[in-house]
Amino acid sequence: MSNVLLTDLHVSYIQSLDNHQDDLAYHLTSHLRLNGVYWGLTALCVMNRQDALPRDDMIEFVMSCWDHEAGGFGAHPEHDAHILPTLSAIQILAIQNALDRLDVERVTKYILSLQNPSGSFSGDFFGETDTRFTYCAVSALSLIGKLGLLDVEKTVAHIRKCRNFDGGFGSSPGAESHAGQVFVCCAALAIMDRLDEVNYDMLAWWLAERQLPNGGLNGRPEKLEDVCYSFWVLSALSILNKLPWIDSDMLISFILSAQDPEGGGIADRPGDMVDVFHTVFGVAGLSLLGYPQLRDLDPVYCMPADVIERLGLRKGWKALDRKTK
Ligand code: FPP
Ligand code: ZN
Repeated sequence: MSNVLLTDLHVSYIQSLDNHQDDLAYHLTSHLRLNGVYWGLTALCVMNRQDALPRDDMIEFVMSCWDHEAGGFGAHPEHDAHILPTLSAIQILAIQNALDRLDVERVTKYILSLQNPSGSFSGDFFGETDTRFTYCAVSALSLIGKLGLLDVEKTVAHIRKCRNFDGGFGSSPGAESHAGQVFVCCAALAIMDRLDEVNYDMLAWWLAERQLPNGGLNGRPEKLEDVCYSFWVLSALSILNKLPWIDSDMLISFILSAQDPEGGGIADRPGDMVDVFHTVFGVAGLSLLGYPQLRDLDPVYCMPADVIERLGLRKGWKALDRKTK
């Protein structure tokens, strides 16, 4: 167990993910490939090692996932377009300063075509709806400068229907509050400048209650702690300006204890197998908490704060100042 961030090991772990194409697991997760690239790249950015994966190859891989017929991106070349890899593609291109590769008009049309009359968004043409997809649509449109084309009232009305008596949000109307859904709803509202829909104190209280005696955070009452909630909960608290409501020293120790000190990477909890998803959300949590020498991460877009500033979207995000906490 280590009490410092093992940056070099995590960088080699992320680099090695690309060399395992013979593994069964690689093929079983092909539906997540483009998201995986975004997670790996974002983790590297946070650790100030953005160049550890080759920029030009990455951009070409993203473009090879473009679904010409639908106008969005699939998770993998030849896969059908879906809103989640479409957001990942846009995030990667934005971080790599390569948004000029996009056919903005067609991507915009694709994203807007996924909105239903109720204001909800489907993930693809087959229909499943979830507030995650609302976030993906709102974030993606904003990153390409097309938020003005969204029917904001209709979109907010749907998020309002997913709000619960405890101040949290679920995946659809009537679904229980869940920290991942709280993040997507708060972040979408923040992008649309509609945080007036949130009961700040009640929701921040619910989020702060996610911290368990071992320092880790869970996603719902009665669930186990999990490193990825370091991001879902902390980003929502950051958006509400209530980051000091959790004990940051204890959470930092918990995240560091879930590192693999031999092969690198971070797991959901100490002793489990590492993966790139928990690695990015672990380092993302550390960045929000002001862990030394990390690049600031914007909690709304889950992208480097300087990239968001460069795009003119949000200014001045700063991690928790641990000296004044
Ligand atoms: C919980 O995951 C997380 C969520 C429900 C939020 C997921 C958000 C997105 C996919 C949008 C894109 C996100 C970013 C940062 C750009 P889970 O299904 O593992 O929950 P569980 O712990 O209940 O299994
Ligand atoms: Zn998790």
